[in-house]
Amino acid sequence: MSLEFPKGFLWGISMAAFQYEMGASPDSLDPNSDWYVWLHDKQNIERGVVSGDVPENGPGYYDLFRVDHSWARWLGLNAWRMNVEWSRIFPKSTREVKVYVDAEEGSIKSVEVSEGTLKQLDRLANRSAIERYREIFEDLKCRGLKLILNLYHWPLPLWVHDPIKVRDTAGKEGPRGWLDAETVVEFAKFAAYIAWKFGELVDMWSTFNEPNVTWSIGYTGGNFPPGLNDYKLSLAAAVNLVQAHARAYDQVKEHAGRDAQVGVIYAVTPAEPATDEDREAAEIANKVMTNWYFEAITEGKFAPFGIGDELRADLKGKVDWIGINYYSRLVVKADERLPGYRVLPGYGFACKPASKSEAGFPTSDSGWEIYPQGLRKAVNMIKKYGKPIIVTENGIADASDRHRSWYIVSHLYQLLKAIKVDGADVRGYLHWSLIDNLEWASGFKMRFGLIYVDMKTKQRYPRPSAYVFKDIIHSNGIPDYLLAYSEYPNILSGA
Ligand code: BGC
Repeated sequence: MSLEFPKGFLWGISMAAFQYEMGASPDSLDPNSDWYVWLHDKQNIERGVVSGDVPENGPGYYDLFRVDHSWARWLGLNAWRMNVEWSRIFPKSTREVKVYVDAEEGSIKSVEVSEGTLKQLDRLANRSAIERYREIFEDLKCRGLKLILNLYHWPLPLWVHDPIKVRDTAGKEGPRGWLDAETVVEFAKFAAYIAWKFGELVDMWSTFNEPNVTWSIGYTGGNFPPGLNDYKLSLAAAVNLVQAHARAYDQVKEHAGRDAQVGVIYAVTPAEPATDEDREAAEIANKVMTNWYFEAITEGKFAPFGIGDELRADLKGKVDWIGINYYSRLVVKADERLPGYRVLPGYGFACKPASKSEAGFPTSDSGWEIYPQGLRKAVNMIKKYGKPIIVTENGIADASDRHRSWYIVSHLYQLLKAIKVDGADVRGYLHWSLIDNLEWASGFKMRFGLIYVDMKTKQRYPRPSAYVFKDIIHSNGIPDYLLAYSEYPNILSGA
């Protein structure tokens, strides 16, 4: 197998507005999102739901974007994935702007946003945020970076979601975010507006980053807003998130042009059976966590979490490319209780930090098992939908940079196998992430950067693994001298 990637392969990084933007100036402050409020909430801090770290102490990309774009060029990247923050563009409600909606019992089948509506939205939009994003996009383009623009990377404006009220009333009082179908309509307006405003600068579009993480961690006892643990609410959020994707897809096609490439980015976590007897359980897990979503947006088969047999024509054929975010696997065992499987601790995401998994693989600072073979599996799970694939996130919390070089090479080696042996159409690899940033509820301790950031001075310093990644990018493949790194764990990793 040649160790070269296909010609024209995209090499990039992914970032999220909330994790990168604030920190360097008062201008960059955006207190108008649910995540901002969630991280500042006293009760959340006291109970250890969140770390106490806040975005206004972050790396400051909103002001220092040129510095970070220079680092991207230093690495030799040709692609950059980011998102526009909804709460920055529309800090105040857009509900008063009327649109035509075709809806039936909570199913939002189409939304029509006219030129007149866009002009009304334009009057409500925050000028300085629009200007800043334009400067950022133009700077990326000047440096020859392809812009992959994503519309949602988790925060919602406060007028869409009050996470504290939703938490304290167990989901009864709102604004309730993804629990309400109305959010689908507001998101469609936002998507239309961004497509209209920035269409000519964007190379590829994505509607959502990891909708599955939003509906799972926020509603199944995790530490994301609104911090609830209720299967029914999780399902309701999932239904709205999948229809919001389809409606945003329509809007981008309508307002950025029919040839706009509109994808979705998903956290693809392959479930593997603990023993041969657990094979069926692993299949169920993959269906419940991943496959149903892609069957909905490709074939219109609507069975949220694998339940039901509705056909929804308005969801069919709504994806042009698929982004895979891959970090680790899950190992599952059959279980009599629904949904038919349980996750085994000691593997995948359920490990101790900076130690070893039950399978003997090293784990990251966040306790995620390093399992490069899983990336090949993730790609193979998605290949059947027949769309071009980009690995839109892959990376590791590794403050000391002990594992990152091995991590990158071994994952890329598995990706090459998926391309060359399994015939997958993979167009690019975007690393998470360029610089250290705010790891949501876990704060600044989890360091995912190829480049270290001193959060006090905002200085950037490349870690040794950045040089390894740079060399890979320059050769558009794995150079011979790095081949030994493709086997992980390696003797030198001490694992
Ligand atoms: C998210 C990122 C996050 C990364 C590491 C992904 O799930 O899209 O925002 O920082 O994983 O946890």
